[in-house]
Amino acid sequence: MRHNERIGFGSKLGAILAAAGSAVGLGNIWRFPYEVGNHGGAAFILIYLGCVFILGVPIMIAEFVVGRKAKASTGEAFNVLAPKTPWKWVGYLGVLTGFLILGYYSVVAGWTLEYIFQALSGSFLGSAEGDFVTLFKNFSTHPLRPLVCLLVFVLATHWVVVRGVQKGIERSSKLLMPLLFALILILAVCAVMLPGAEKGIRFLLQPDFSKLDSEVFLGAMGQAFFSLSLGMGCLSTYASYFGKESRLAHTAVSVGLIDTFVAVLAGLIIFPAAFSVGISPDSGPSLVFITLPNIFHQAFAGIPLIGYVCSVLFYLLLALAALTSTISLHEVSTAFLHEKFHFSRIKAARLVTAGSLLIGIVSSLSLGCWSGYQIAGLNFFDALDFLTAKIMLPLSAILIAIFVGWYLDKRLVKDEITNKGSLSMPLYPVYSFILRYVAPVGITLIFINELGWL
Ligand code: PFF
Repeated sequence: MRHNERIGFGSKLGAILAAAGSAVGLGNIWRFPYEVGNHGGAAFILIYLGCVFILGVPIMIAEFVVGRKAKASTGEAFNVLAPKTPWKWVGYLGVLTGFLILGYYSVVAGWTLEYIFQALSGSFLGSAEGDFVTLFKNFSTHPLRPLVCLLVFVLATHWVVVRGVQKGIERSSKLLMPLLFALILILAVCAVMLPGAEKGIRFLLQPDFSKLDSEVFLGAMGQAFFSLSLGMGCLSTYASYFGKESRLAHTAVSVGLIDTFVAVLAGLIIFPAAFSVGISPDSGPSLVFITLPNIFHQAFAGIPLIGYVCSVLFYLLLALAALTSTISLHEVSTAFLHEKFHFSRIKAARLVTAGSLLIGIVSSLSLGCWSGYQIAGLNFFDALDFLTAKIMLPLSAILIAIFVGWYLDKRLVKDEITNKGSLSMPLYPVYSFILRYVAPVGITLIFINELGWL
């Protein structure tokens, strides 16, 4: 059968690193720290941990079950497991969500290239806070510069994806993920050694439960889902390349741990550095692109070379993390076109690249000269973010939980998770309960909340 002949990851480690590469991205280094900053620090992190391991990991295992059992990309997997039923639309929804996200995610990913360039050219040195606001506004609303960065970033993603599963995705993950860990560790060590860093560390690690409310809880759930790449077909497409010896639950827990570790380390870089120069941690999405560029220079004012190196490394880290995620988003649509319409991989990848560039260009221009064109009061970029992250993602995650928890044969699911009974899984009943009841109800709550109905 055609599906069984497909190429897979060459090793279990390659599979884990590829899935972790999808999960670790702008969500960890850009979004997580500002969510922590806005929601009062360590208390948010505790709730976040609960969301990752109680809800996120079980749904990730469900996505793995779908992908590996069907041995088909998300777009086709539901067709294989539930032929001639409307469940195929869940697969198509995942592909569409991943494709749309790829468009606007690549815009922000492209910004990281501009910031690497600015950091390298030393232009952050000696600038004041106001200069960074101007720099960011001028750049992100410029009609051409962000588009060039977007093009370079999308082409880099394309370059990896056309090389295929083993030579492209697996090899790049094995190279980029260790590099990323090394960079983040170096930066975290530098940041925690700064004078005054203790306040930042305390903010990150000492919970203040008075800050907890339902918004914190729901915000943490949304962040956990985005950060773990759930609901967009990435992880089930990757799971279709897993070997039969891969341990699904073990892989999901490893990805959850790596993703959380990187997010907390990103916090350990940003907050000690921010507190050491007296910058408030709750400056929102602009934290990384406006507040951060001058933090390293101010913090290491006595040794400018370290400030310079740290800012270059930080933006390099951000770019690499974004790249491993755009690769996975690109792969969902490429594999779908390849399998569904029998296009060659190169042709499929070209179509996805062209389509995502188009969406990226419109998203990027909608932040500048096309900001006047609005959909329901939002520019195109924000409207896409709202539609995908707040509507399509939770919807698709609920449907996946119901599909695996309720529709699929229980024995099939258990066989897949235990590798046909060869692995013991004492927590299986707990897993099943979470998937059938807790996850659908929990995600429905995020969904309703994010639409403003709670
Ligand atoms: N998890 C990635 C991040 O944290 O940046 C973003 C992402 C990648 C979301 C792939 C969804 C996805 F399918």
